Amino acid sequence: MKKLKTFFLRTYGCQMNELDSEIMKGLLERRGMQQVDDENNADLLLFNTCSIRDLAERKVMGKLGQLKGKKGRFIGVAGCMANSKKERLFKKLPDIDFVIGTNNISDLDQVLNEVLETGRPTLRVSDQFEEHLDYLIAKRDDPVKAFVSIIRGCDKFCTYCVVPYTRGKEVSRPLRDIVEECQKLVDKGYREITLLGQNVNSYGRDQPEWRVRFHDLLYYLDQIKGLFRIRFMTSHPVDIHVELMKAVRDLPSVCEFIHFPLQAGSNRILKKMHRMYTVEEYLEKVAQLRELVPHVALGTDIIVGFPTETEEEFQETYDKFQKIEYSVAFLFAYSARKGTPAFRWKDDVSEEEKKRRLQRLLKLYEEMAKADKEKMLGQEVEILVESKHQKKGYLKGRTRCWKKVIFSGPDQWVGSLQKVFLHGYSHQTFLGEIR
Ligand code: 5AD
Ligand code: SF4
Repeated sequence: MKKLKTFFLRTYGCQMNELDSEIMKGLLERRGMQQVDDENNADLLLFNTCSIRDLAERKVMGKLGQLKGKKGRFIGVAGCMANSKKERLFKKLPDIDFVIGTNNISDLDQVLNEVLETGRPTLRVSDQFEEHLDYLIAKRDDPVKAFVSIIRGCDKFCTYCVVPYTRGKEVSRPLRDIVEECQKLVDKGYREITLLGQNVNSYGRDQPEWRVRFHDLLYYLDQIKGLFRIRFMTSHPVDIHVELMKAVRDLPSVCEFIHFPLQAGSNRILKKMHRMYTVEEYLEKVAQLRELVPHVALGTDIIVGFPTETEEEFQETYDKFQKIEYSVAFLFAYSARKGTPAFRWKDDVSEEEKKRRLQRLLKLYEEMAKADKEKMLGQEVEILVESKHQKKGYLKGRTRCWKKVIFSGPDQWVGSLQKVFLHGYSHQTFLGEIR
């Protein structure tokens, strides 16, 4: 059997994919393989892919199409495109040796052995995640912040979204395993943990006998000494309840930042998206959250140009976006995804019109972000120092609300909390100083 010595790993898409890549990296290193940055020097090329929008898939297909021959290398495709395209990937790209789905990462070793032994294209894709993945093997590059998966899959079935079809049903990870992993990370020096799930607020719902919900998990994790910050994403608005808001208010390590996607500001479109809330219900949660946690920062995702969205309905999204004053926003043009309910509807907002709506919203976001930054100047904020900056003598970090800050200080401060005065900004980054 040929021995694979080196691998090149490229990750596309969301944080869950980043974490999955860290796990795959751990699995490959356990086989004695070494990561290389140059794909021409790798025995194995592994692509962890994303299907969320057409552009994400096109990027991967473009990259794979460019590889031009195997040159003795092995090529594998992991991630959401493995789940959505399965064996069709072999037809499109005959150089691929294996396709391994998001729910099958723990089979990576076996799949590689199979490919090496048989020389045949190998497919391993299950519809359902089974919770026996060895998370502790993950090899993280960042020394301060870590992602920790708490629930996989999604049961929400928004009509535009492929995730429930690619990643499958919600499967929560046992509380004990999560706490154990977080404790181990803190023992290794990690100071910030971001809990990941397509919808973290569903945590525990698939396992009613555990009698733990998402906010309970936060209370457990807050007790870990040395864990300075806990973040989580993403939250579906229907599952945000007062218990969670109180946890954000009361737990010192839980950051006052909630990514809480609105998606659209028109009730007709929200209904067609199957988001299961109205604009009024959403705004009520925002108001309640801001009352309980006055400095809470909110993040959102917005889709423009959903099938049948009129100019007036887009304007409703625009107005809500302006009114709510998000701190972070990810804005997208609707992309029709095969297999989703919305795919059957006519994608009737032209691409130019989608682009125009997106540009309008981006412009508003820019203006609002500038005003928001101006407001923060002169404040003293708590920064978790995440790394050195490329400029000598400077450090990079973030506020509790996820704002990036650069300031000067000694390297030993990486991993510590510092009080920093904000005196300026350049693009998305604040400039600060210690007073
Ligand atoms: N088209 C455009 N954006 C999408 N998203 C999910 N599916 C689509 C799609 N088909 C966006 C949503 C989601 C984010 C992760 O990606 O806003 O919250
Ligand atoms: Fe997709 Fe909706 Fe699930 Fe988010 S909540 S992953 S947008 S189906």
